[in-house]
Amino acid sequence: MTALDTRPDAITHRFPPDFRWGTATAAYQIEGAAAEDGRTPSIWDTFSRTPGKVRNGDTGDIAADHYHRVSEDIALMRRLGVTDYRFSIAWPRVQPTGRGPAVQKGLDFYRRLVDELLEAGIRPVATLYHWDLPQELEDAGGWPHRETAYRFGEYAQIMADALGDRVATWTTLNEPWCAAFLGYGNGVHAPGRTSNLASLRAAHHFNLGHGLAVQALRTTLGTRSEISLTLNLHAVRPDSQDPADVDAARRIDAVGNRVFLDPVFRGALPQDLIEDTAAVTDWAFVQDGDLQIASTRIDSLGINYYSPSLVAAVAPEAVVPFTEPSPWAGAEQYVRFLPAPGPRTAMDWPIDADALHELLLRLRDDLPGTPLVITENGAAYDDYADPQGEVKDPERVAYLHAHLAAVHRAIEDGADVRGYFLWSLLDNFEWAYGYSKRFGIVHVDFATQRRTFKDSARWYAEVIARGGLTA
Ligand code: NOJ
Repeated sequence: MTALDTRPDAITHRFPPDFRWGTATAAYQIEGAAAEDGRTPSIWDTFSRTPGKVRNGDTGDIAADHYHRVSEDIALMRRLGVTDYRFSIAWPRVQPTGRGPAVQKGLDFYRRLVDELLEAGIRPVATLYHWDLPQELEDAGGWPHRETAYRFGEYAQIMADALGDRVATWTTLNEPWCAAFLGYGNGVHAPGRTSNLASLRAAHHFNLGHGLAVQALRTTLGTRSEISLTLNLHAVRPDSQDPADVDAARRIDAVGNRVFLDPVFRGALPQDLIEDTAAVTDWAFVQDGDLQIASTRIDSLGINYYSPSLVAAVAPEAVVPFTEPSPWAGAEQYVRFLPAPGPRTAMDWPIDADALHELLLRLRDDLPGTPLVITENGAAYDDYADPQGEVKDPERVAYLHAHLAAVHRAIEDGADVRGYFLWSLLDNFEWAYGYSKRFGIVHVDFATQRRTFKDSARWYAEVIARGGLTA
């Protein structure tokens, strides 16, 4: 790497001075220590132990052993110079059965993490739910069951009391679309259920649980912490302007995006979603007052973005009655997903930074007055340490550069984007892909737990130090 060029004219994309530069992780993906200090199994422990569900039979039992390496990992963040760190709290670590009093040792772990972050001058950004539901709550019905939303509200209250405003930003849920539709719809995520009705019920109870958690946090903390929600909004594009293709995109936008956006920001379910899913449900599980709770005001919206979707209509004569399992609650019987052109990451996800720019402008227009934060963006590549111990990942640097430039362009175009969190600090357990996909800017040798800065980590440290990108 060359010496840091801080000449003002070297910077082609300068971000606002208070822009938040972060990295992100999630508990089950990095912590390990799955059975320590009173933690009980979550749905991901059960799922990863079920043969055939996770590549190579990988589990989060040890992961990146972060539970025992907090100080070492915060030292990595200091080297990067991040202003913020986004992590998640493992519900089964603090409230093993999902009910009743908290386990002190579980709370202590997160207290220490938060304290060490604050000592390092890094703002803690905590997510309450990044997919690790206590197994006991799944056994009692899981997210399709209304009670789970109330249990989530109580857990939020425990965390607000325990960590309060030492956490700068509280995020209720991470990507409820994946948790509802991959977890209960097509079953590729935990708990692996395959029911369109269950996925829609889960989506609603995520909205309700989110609102209950916001109420608990707000009542306890007032405006002392920022309260947020992170969605993986689908940047969906029709293949043509043919009305049938445009309608296909509308369907995916309804069941992929507005199923959360509308309850949370408008206190209503999208009418077209209700019509599109009429064969599955009449939504009678939505009770009076639920949508009002779901729309309790939040301070910002987190967006996770990786890749766009390109869709076209299925010709009417080719529409077949839907068969489960489905991640789109049956809406996909009218929709064809097309392979987007261009290069792809190791996940086989198409790379398209313009779609991020478009998504941010759409949110600028649809949610005026709502600050936006990119809570995840990044790429998996097949990285390895060379004989000199270096990890060269120029494709990741190119991906990050293009996406940060797109964020910058969106800010210039009036989108109120306050920060960017790179996924991920460390290589980690990539859900159904196990350890086969590496998203980290810090390489982890899982046999030794040795951490090595990839070139992308050095690059990101320079971007942060300069406050922007060079050409
Ligand atoms: C989104 C999820 O929040 C995160 O857990 C996952 O690892 C990344 N996407 C990459 O797939």
